[in-house]
Amino acid sequence: MRILPNLLIAGLGASALVRPVEQQQQPLVGDSSSSSSSSSSSSSAPSYRDDLLALHKNLISTSSQSGIEGNVGDWLIAYLQKNKYKTYKQYLPPRESTGKNGRFNVFAWPAESDVGAAVDDISLEFVHVPPLLVTSHIDVVPPHIPYSIDDDKPTSETVIHGRGSVDAKGSVAAQLTAISLLREQGVLEGNDFLALYVVGEEDSGDGMKAFSAFMEDTFPGRGFRAAIFGEPTENKLACGHKGILGCTVKATGQAGHSGYPWLGKSANDALVRGLVSLIDADLGTSPVFGNTTVNLGLVHGGVAANVIPAAAEAVMAVRVALGPQATGHEEVRRRMEAALHAVDDSLSMTCGQGYGVVECNCDVDGFDTITVNYGTDVPNLSGDHTRYLYGPGDILVAHSDHEALTVSALETAVEGYKALIKHALGK
Ligand SMILES: *[C@@H]1O[C@H](CO)[C@@H](O)[C@H](O)[C@H]1NC(C)=O
Ligand SMILES: *[C@@H]1O[C@H](CO)[C@@H](O)[C@H](O)[C@H]1NC(C)=O
Repeated sequence: MRILPNLLIAGLGASALVRPVEQQQQPLVGDSSSSSSSSSSSSSAPSYRDDLLALHKNLISTSSQSGIEGNVGDWLIAYLQKNKYKTYKQYLPPRESTGKNGRFNVFAWPAESDVGAAVDDISLEFVHVPPLLVTSHIDVVPPHIPYSIDDDKPTSETVIHGRGSVDAKGSVAAQLTAISLLREQGVLEGNDFLALYVVGEEDSGDGMKAFSAFMEDTFPGRGFRAAIFGEPTENKLACGHKGILGCTVKATGQAGHSGYPWLGKSANDALVRGLVSLIDADLGTSPVFGNTTVNLGLVHGGVAANVIPAAAEAVMAVRVALGPQATGHEEVRRRMEAALHAVDDSLSMTCGQGYGVVECNCDVDGFDTITVNYGTDVPNLSGDHTRYLYGPGDILVAHSDHEALTVSALETAVEGYKALIKHALGK
């Protein structure tokens, strides 16, 4: 999950973890009422619990701040090969801080002969692009927080702490566990899916953007049918997320002695009036995504109390509630400009690249739904595939110093991913 600098997360319900999807998915198997009443006790630990927790632990313990993801990438490649995947490294241009292993996206798909191996030229591997992409990101925000778990003999309620435990190594571990289980059951085979773990999601999306470009170059005109993106959604299926627009508003005045304000022009006064009008303006609402919100993250103006300020500026992150994805933010920008200019013509506004609301498919039986207010890699993969956004953990603890989730959240996510993968493939 990506948060722009100075950006607060608003409006996401901090509701408790949802009841496991598997309870809703298995009404025909055995006595569902007794299985649901016991499913959160340790006596019903799933067979994969130890493997899942070990995978999650290893991912968290290998630190991987955006820009220096090489170590966790290498760890993951080794794990995947041991687990009978073919793997491919898509290298990204190094950054200043890049560690000695470089940085790369990790691709994985089933090895036919059940012998894992590294592949150098992926274009030789895929005659057909697999119908399904399962993806999340392996970079995390700083600082590193070591792995810890509250209990040596974990139960469903045991809490696991550490950087990335939620965002998004919880998703990575749950996705890979779900895929392994479906492979063992013979549900997933050969060319069904590509698993993709990208770098750089938290600060720029450069990993997913590079993957998207790679797909267009290597397999022109051939895309995935569906893509499942792993991010913390409290194990609810996200109907989408708000768009974003980052803007700077500048006011220019005329410096002078503070005793004679009418001889100069106060940039601060103009800015403050403009910002009030911006905060009060209707910047667009939708029934699904709520109101467009403005976070005035940074305000700066003037030089001293006794000088009429000649320059002032404010930097803000706007969470866009209007669609469509390609242009929803442009309507918001027009409304912002109108609100500013209604107050003072000298106010100027510049905005970076933005996007409108990002819609995902949330119409799958057995899932509660949610909408979220953070950015993701979803808009950075081009194509007309069906998009799903789902994963364990609560966004309100991600990026914090108390990032953590429960064992049951991870296990619920495994069941959720299994159901989503089967749904997406029509199996
Ligand atoms: C991710 O996608 C959004 C929406 O298309 C775009 O504004 C943003 O620049 C993209 N990020 C990168 C790194 O391309
Ligand atoms: C959206 O904005 C309107 C008008 O300011 C306000 O009345 C309403 O409560 C807001 N809705 C939410 C969900 O914040």
